[in-house]
Amino acid sequence: MKTTQMQHDQFPREKKIRVGLMGATGAVGQAFMWMLSSHPWFEVTRVMASEKRVGRNYGEDVHWILPMEIPQSVLGYEIKSFDTQAMKDDGVEIVFSALPNHAARTAEPRLIEEGFYVFSNAAVLRYEEHVPILIPEANIETLHWIEKQGYPDKGFAITNANCSTTGLAVAMAPLKKYGIKDLVVSTYQSVSGAGHPGLSSLDITNNVIPYIDTEEEKMIREFKKILSVDVDIFPYCVRVPLMFGHLETVWVEFEQEVELDQIRRDWDESRQGLDHLPSTPEKPIEYETQFDLPQAKQAFYGFPQGMVVYTGRLKRQGSRIGFTLLVNNVIKGAAGGSIQNAEAFVTHYLDAG
Ligand SMILES: NC(=O)c1ccc[n+]([C@@H]2O[C@H](COP(=O)([O-])OP(=O)(O)OC[C@H]3O[C@@H](n4cnc5c(N)ncnc54)[C@H](OP(=O)(O)O)[C@@H]3O)[C@@H](O)[C@H]2O)c1
Repeated sequence: MKTTQMQHDQFPREKKIRVGLMGATGAVGQAFMWMLSSHPWFEVTRVMASEKRVGRNYGEDVHWILPMEIPQSVLGYEIKSFDTQAMKDDGVEIVFSALPNHAARTAEPRLIEEGFYVFSNAAVLRYEEHVPILIPEANIETLHWIEKQGYPDKGFAITNANCSTTGLAVAMAPLKKYGIKDLVVSTYQSVSGAGHPGLSSLDITNNVIPYIDTEEEKMIREFKKILSVDVDIFPYCVRVPLMFGHLETVWVEFEQEVELDQIRRDWDESRQGLDHLPSTPEKPIEYETQFDLPQAKQAFYGFPQGMVVYTGRLKRQGSRIGFTLLVNNVIKGAAGGSIQNAEAFVTHYLDAG
């Protein structure tokens, strides 16, 4: 595959880093398997799901929901038990977690306790004091919080945000310098955001549901922690009958006057300082000039696929500036974001010595 080859050529690594993956059969777990199958630095060494699947073959057992074909190289994995000693014996240091909260609540602290470097998509540890909700485009400076957790003597957790918050934080990070007064956001979130099997088809087919449990609270709390701002945020989060991608509309008021062209320039430059991370797109934020874009069907566009946050429809009304955005919830909003965070850790700590 040409794209994979590009990554390997640009980011060579003599020996790959062995990683474990928990929750490998879920919506986010599949996105991990797909991305890691061609990753230039990481090699999936232990694949885990719930106990009932232990001993089964991944390719035969997974209910594959991604729009691209399952990679040949992941078909033959055996699903293994959650055994930290076996992981150590296999040389695993980094563990990616795509566990639901109820399972993450016990598994993640145990992994940290045993010295693993945990990159998690679950919400359980996100609000702990020294645990960053890391989004390299928004708050790379919080990476060093792992030292407050005891690294290098101890394991640590780095989380990524709730998927809709990730899109919002990526788009707003370059604009924070204008002083955010407050922000109104409405989301149109795909069904895969609820995992697999997720919502009943009878509930979501031909329907729109104006409520997603705890989503609005997460958005408020996580946005403030990520951007280190204390501002009022007014979200409405809505589930729509789409497979992938969360579309959002935003109305923001800034302290300072800012031209719309300047905002587009800020978005254009959002890669600054992240050239060394293989999963960072050339332009992490792409502004769409066509009046009816971005649309949800673009969720897997860009390179790496699904890692670009698309913005559009920038306009001014009264004292507010409005725009739309699209984030791929299972890639940039979950697995891809986590992998990018692990890349940041590897370059800033493991490779720096
Ligand atoms: N979906 C998204 O867009 C998204 C975005 C950002 C963050 N997240 C977060 O990412 C995590 C995973 O979400 P998801 O949507 O991928 O969920 P999911 O589709 O329900 O997948 C859950 C995964 O965890 C495994 N699992 C369930 N219970 C377990 C247990 N007790 N012990 C070990 N493994 C267990 C499942 O294995 P089996 O298949 O064997 O049951 C499956 O592999 C959640 O914390 C979610 O909030 C999701």
